[in-house]
Amino acid sequence: MKRILASTALCAVILLAGCSQGSIKYSVDHTPTMGMSFWNAFQLNINEDLVKDQALAVTELGLDSLGYKFINIDDGFQMPRDEEGHFRCDPALFPSGMRAVADYIHSLGLKAGIYTDAGDNTCGSENIYTYGLGTGLYGHERSDCHLFFDEWDFDFIKIDFCGGQHAGLNEKEQYTKIANAIKSCKKSDIIFNICRWRYPGTWAEDLATSWRTTYDIRPWFARVKYIIEENLWLQAYTRNGHYNDCDMLEIGAPKWPGSDASLTHDEELTHMAYWCIASSPLIMGCDMRTLSEESLEILKNKDLIAMNQDPLGLGAPVVQRSGDVYVVAKDMESIMGPKRAVVVMNLSDKPGSVDVYAEALGFKGRIKVYDCFTHEDRPDLACETSFNVPLRPHSSAAFFVTGKRIEKQIYDASESYLHNFSTIEGAISPRYMPSPSASLGTYVSGLGGSTDNWLQWNNVYSGKGGKYVATFRYSCAYPTSFKVLVNGKEVGELTDLVTQNDHNWNEANLEIKLNKGLNEVRLCPIDGIMPNIDLMYLHKK
Ligand code: GLA
Repeated sequence: MKRILASTALCAVILLAGCSQGSIKYSVDHTPTMGMSFWNAFQLNINEDLVKDQALAVTELGLDSLGYKFINIDDGFQMPRDEEGHFRCDPALFPSGMRAVADYIHSLGLKAGIYTDAGDNTCGSENIYTYGLGTGLYGHERSDCHLFFDEWDFDFIKIDFCGGQHAGLNEKEQYTKIANAIKSCKKSDIIFNICRWRYPGTWAEDLATSWRTTYDIRPWFARVKYIIEENLWLQAYTRNGHYNDCDMLEIGAPKWPGSDASLTHDEELTHMAYWCIASSPLIMGCDMRTLSEESLEILKNKDLIAMNQDPLGLGAPVVQRSGDVYVVAKDMESIMGPKRAVVVMNLSDKPGSVDVYAEALGFKGRIKVYDCFTHEDRPDLACETSFNVPLRPHSSAAFFVTGKRIEKQIYDASESYLHNFSTIEGAISPRYMPSPSASLGTYVSGLGGSTDNWLQWNNVYSGKGGKYVATFRYSCAYPTSFKVLVNGKEVGELTDLVTQNDHNWNEANLEIKLNKGLNEVRLCPIDGIMPNIDLMYLHKK
């Protein structure tokens, strides 16, 4: 009996720890990384002269003064390790050595980036580039990091996972080991990008500056659309100045070998606008020497860059949706301040149009609209209720909207943060599920079952603080339950939640008290699984 009691007590502690740990902060160490990388345009065909030429071109085009500072060498510079296991660059390609290249990049006022793999082999070497075999970090974490940062003086590192996947390494363990190796270097302020091609898990935000969320981009719209669609529901994970990386830009990039497809002007604008509003790193992937004027103008768009480099570093959740036409928005400059960034996108192959509602954007009364593509105020769109945006196939519009803010009432599950979320193949994870019956076409399922498998709205705002009725829209074909924590404190339980089937929604109410300003509202399992969650609606008492 004693034993059973002891283990029950332990469970309670774990339950509490699982549900009450972690909290949000809004201070950003780094805005999203801006620069260029060699991969999209040159793949493995790189050398010292090319790197220097491209770096110089970035300065000659004035891109550095707009924030594009990082010159990131990707795969293709390595040479098999020597007999003692020391990492080497290929002297035929980089005869002056990597330190000299980094010095040159620094002499231009730029920053230098390098590439490796978390496992044994780089991704290029898994196909044709045998020189990359055995050059990954596995087993050499500390010595390689000291070489890259303290001896060669690089400032950024992208760490791929082809070798890691091949060897069946555990992502969290291996990237944690690497993060510790980076921290052990004399050089500080190193930008660390995880390249696992899927959203790796919330553990990544404690380790890395950014993490890739999708498979590789290509210079055609279907691939850009796939990346946008994957990222639409990941916006809660771009936080605390740690970012979802939508991959390198294909703006101005050449056609893919053997393919006729490339991006149109409208598509390049949509690509840039989404990467900017989503606070993704902006890493150009084109040949700087042959960039067209149109593409250069897009990359140099100061308003879009300001949207991307906003000091809040927030993601931009979906606020309105009609099929493949999306409206996404985020606060700029201050949380719940008067200015918001808004991007309206038509991802479909047909022309479309959308009435954008001021209320859906979080405003009450007359709003002012500034067009980030034409750089002018749009008095024709200023309104109190809604403005219409016609959109060609694959086109978009980007705005700064200002006005008086209203407290948000609907917190959608699609913008919530799921503690155990990951899109790694085969991961046991809660999911953002599509359903025509759910608000914004998406709900969350797979919560509960373990104490740390919870959902949270990170930014629940109350102007004055006080009592609210929180209404939760849920579904589940068998009885489920959850408890609600506000700012880490348990405020109540909702039990016996059951509906006819998974797409038949019901509502449950709970009175909660919010602090003035920002609050965190967390839904945690009591014992067992939680229902599907569609949204939380807040009503001030
Ligand atoms: C993977 C990455 C790419 C690039 C190549 C290099 O595919 O996702 O971005 O770094 O490897 O081999």
